[in-house]
Amino acid sequence: MKIDTIKLNNFRNYKNTSINLKAGLNFIVGKNAQGKTNLLESIYLLSVGKSPKNSKDKQLIMFNETKSKIEIDFETIAGKKNIQMYLDKTNKKAIKINNLNILKITELVGCLSVVFFSPDELKLIKEVPEDRRTFLDVSISQFDKSYLYNLIKYEKILKQRNTILKSLDSDETKLEQLKLFTPQLIDTAEKIIKKRLEFIENLKKIAKNIHTLITIDENLSVDYSYKPKENISIYDDLVDTFNKNVDKELELKYTCFGPHRDDIIFKINDLDCKYYASQGQQRTVALVIKLALMEVIKKEIGEYPVLLLDDVLSELDSARQNRLLKLCTQFQTLITCTKIPDIDLNYNKIKIENGKII
Ligand SMILES: Nc1ncnc2c1ncn2[C@@H]1O[C@H](COP(=O)(O)OP(=O)(O)OP(=O)(O)O)[C@@H](O)[C@H]1O
Ligand SMILES: [Mg+2]
Repeated sequence: MKIDTIKLNNFRNYKNTSINLKAGLNFIVGKNAQGKTNLLESIYLLSVGKSPKNSKDKQLIMFNETKSKIEIDFETIAGKKNIQMYLDKTNKKAIKINNLNILKITELVGCLSVVFFSPDELKLIKEVPEDRRTFLDVSISQFDKSYLYNLIKYEKILKQRNTILKSLDSDETKLEQLKLFTPQLIDTAEKIIKKRLEFIENLKKIAKNIHTLITIDENLSVDYSYKPKENISIYDDLVDTFNKNVDKELELKYTCFGPHRDDIIFKINDLDCKYYASQGQQRTVALVIKLALMEVIKKEIGEYPVLLLDDVLSELDSARQNRLLKLCTQFQTLITCTKIPDIDLNYNKIKIENGKII
């Protein structure tokens, strides 16, 4: 995929700006607080439907303004596309794809495919399992709509099941209700787990190779916390687990098993990165995972997504910078920095000052 133009109107510190991008490397250069991250944020927003910082829509609208519009023109193997997003302080946002209104965010997901990396993404390694599940969910949804629908369905059933568990006081009819919801939950859980396992299987091989390329002597492993057993299907295994733990769930009053509790485990040379890896090692693993994701998505949709790299260069030594940037010339990459490194590669430079292109 290749973004041709992005137009920002009253978005963050951009009053009225149009930015043309080229294939390959695009450096977004500027001093601190000029709008470099805001630009990447706007692109991510049109891809995923929400801000990577989890900002609310009204926080994205320029101070003292009530509305904002973001428009993007991009090329895919299926032809040229256009997305427009209208943000409103008092109303829900509206989105148009190729000038047609869409009704649900699920219709937007997967249209413009991007992979985003910022220093914040270290949370993928360091923080709580929820961050890693979000990574799985956002990544897989970009190329598999049925996964996204199953996720939404799962969350609905889970919520209903948890409500019943919370209100249960040895009431027989509620216990019957719980019995009704459990098979539905397991049915959807199995689909989600299967897809996640398949995704991790693809990702781990590619990530291992890229990681060796960058680090030379470290061995990265990536695994999903749930391991399928040999003689029993995932569905039957989950049925077993739920049956064995009825009392535990009744006591704790929430659903204790299923994909909403799963995790990804990253290891370097057999040591869990979360507890043993250095800051630099964790950073490298997070970046490698995003680069591997570029390849996985390409395999699935037939073309590379656009790579958005926020502030990565300042954290890498020049040898790693060079290896990374060379890799990034294969696809369209937008990379923010305060100073362009000394490199022997073709690139496009976009200088930003106070929300304007210089
Ligand atoms: N809703 C908004 N309206 C106007 N300005 C905003 C809004 N939200 C954020 N800003 C401003 O946008 C500015 C630029 O932010 P951004 O994060 O894009 O900077 P940056 O160029 O990435 O800087 P750095 O190099 O420090 O990462 C910030 O100073 C912030 O105050
Ligand atoms: Mg920034």
